[in-house]
Amino acid sequence: MFDFKYFTPTKVVFGKNTESKVAELIKEFGGTKVLIHYGGGSVVRSGLLKRVTDTLDAAGISYVSLGGAVPNPHLGLVYEGIELCKKENVDFLLAVGGGSAIDSAKAIGYGLANEGDVWDFYDYKRKAEGCVPLGVILTIAATGSEMSDSSVITKEEGLVKRGYSSDFGRPKFAIMNPELTMTLPDYQTACGCTDIMMHTMERYFTQGGNMEITDALAEGLLRTVKKNAVILRDDPKNYEARAEVMWAGSLAHNGLTGCGNDGGDWMTHKLEHELGGLYDVAHGAGLAAIWGTWARYVYKNCLPRFKKFALNVMEVENTGTDEEIALRGIEALEDFYRSINMPTNLRELGVNPTEEELALMAKKCAVGVGGEMGSARVLNEADMLAIYKASV
Ligand code: NZQ
Ligand code: ZN
Repeated sequence: MFDFKYFTPTKVVFGKNTESKVAELIKEFGGTKVLIHYGGGSVVRSGLLKRVTDTLDAAGISYVSLGGAVPNPHLGLVYEGIELCKKENVDFLLAVGGGSAIDSAKAIGYGLANEGDVWDFYDYKRKAEGCVPLGVILTIAATGSEMSDSSVITKEEGLVKRGYSSDFGRPKFAIMNPELTMTLPDYQTACGCTDIMMHTMERYFTQGGNMEITDALAEGLLRTVKKNAVILRDDPKNYEARAEVMWAGSLAHNGLTGCGNDGGDWMTHKLEHELGGLYDVAHGAGLAAIWGTWARYVYKNCLPRFKKFALNVMEVENTGTDEEIALRGIEALEDFYRSINMPTNLRELGVNPTEEELALMAKKCAVGVGGEMGSARVLNEADMLAIYKASV
C-alpha cells in the first residue's frame, strides 16, 4: 500500500430541490458578487437558470452571467470571463451545468487569482497560487469536476486540449439534485456513465497499491454504475438510478477510489483528450471508443488486475487461463458499452482519421504527458500511435 493524501473539501448538498439552497451557500462561503457561468443553454431551456437568479435576487446577492461554455470548453471564453469578472469585481464563481461549465469556471478562477496568462498552468509552465472560490450546481453526472481538482480546457489555436490539477480549484460546494439530470439526452447520460466508470478504472489498472478497501470501493462503484446505466437506458426518469449514478460520479473522481494505489494509469484519458481536441467528440464516448484497444494492448503487463476486474466487476466465468479470463472481461465491458449505445472503436465514434492525423494525435499526446506515461503499462509515442491505429 502506498502513502496517500485525501483532500475533499467540497460541501455536498444532495437531493431534490437542493438548488434552492444556492444563495445561503454562496453567503456561507463569503460570496458577494457572483459570476453565473453556464453552457450552451440547456439550463435556460430547463428553467434552472431562472430559478437560480430568482433565488439570488431574493437573497440580495448581485451577479453577472456568462453562458457559452461548449463541451471541450474553449480558452477564448475563459479570457472573456476573466475580463468580465475584473470589470464587475466578481468574488465568487457559480458554475451551473456539467464538466465543461465547471472547468471553464475553474480556469476563470485561476486567471483571476493569478497574474499572467492562465494558459501557462495548462501548458505546465507554472503552478497556480490560488483560485477564486467556486460553487457548482451540477446538471450531468459524468466528470466528477464538482469535487475534483481538475479542469480541462481546449486552446483553439492548434486544438490543444489540456488538463490542469490543483487543490485550489476544488469547488467550495456542490449542489446535486438528481432530478436536474432527467432532461439529459440519452447519449449524454451514457457518456456520463462511461466517464464515471473510467475515472475509477484509471485508478484500478495499475501496478501498485492493491489496497483491499480501495479495491472493494472501486469494484462496488463500477458494478453500481454498470447496473444503473442500463436502468437509465430503459427508464431515464428513474430517480433512484439517477441518484446512484450522480453520487458515483463524484466518488469516482474525488480521489476516494485511488487511495493507496500508485496514482493511476490515465492513458485512456490522455489518448481521448487528443480525440476531443481534434474532433470535438463527447468525452465519455471518446473513452469508450479507445478503451478496448488500450486494454488489449496493455493487459498482459497488468494481468492480475485485469483478471480481478473480469471476475469481480464484469462477473465473467472463472474458467481457463488468467489471460482468457482477462480477455473475457475486456469483451464483456465492450458488450456493456454497446448495450448503452456507446462506441467501441473510432469508426463507431464517427471519426475517420488520416494516417497524418493519427500520427499528429500520438505526437501531441506524447508531448502532453511529457514523453511517456502509464501504470498498467508505460506507453511512449510509438505505443500511442499503435493504439490509435488499432482503434480505427
Ligand atoms: O451546454 P449545455 O447546453 O448545458 O448542454 C450540455 C452539453 O451539450 C448538455 N447538458 C448538460 N446537462 C444537461 C444537458 N442537457 C440537457 N439537460 C441537462 N441537465 O450535455 C452536453 C455535455 O455537457 P458537458 O458539460 O460538456 O459534459 P461533461 O460533464 O461530460 O463535461 C465534459 C468536459 O469535462 C472534461 C472533458 O474532457 C470535457 O471537456 N473533463 C473534466 C474532468 C474534471 N474537471 O475533473 C475530468 C474528465 O475526465 C474530463 O476530462
Ligand atoms: Zn473523464
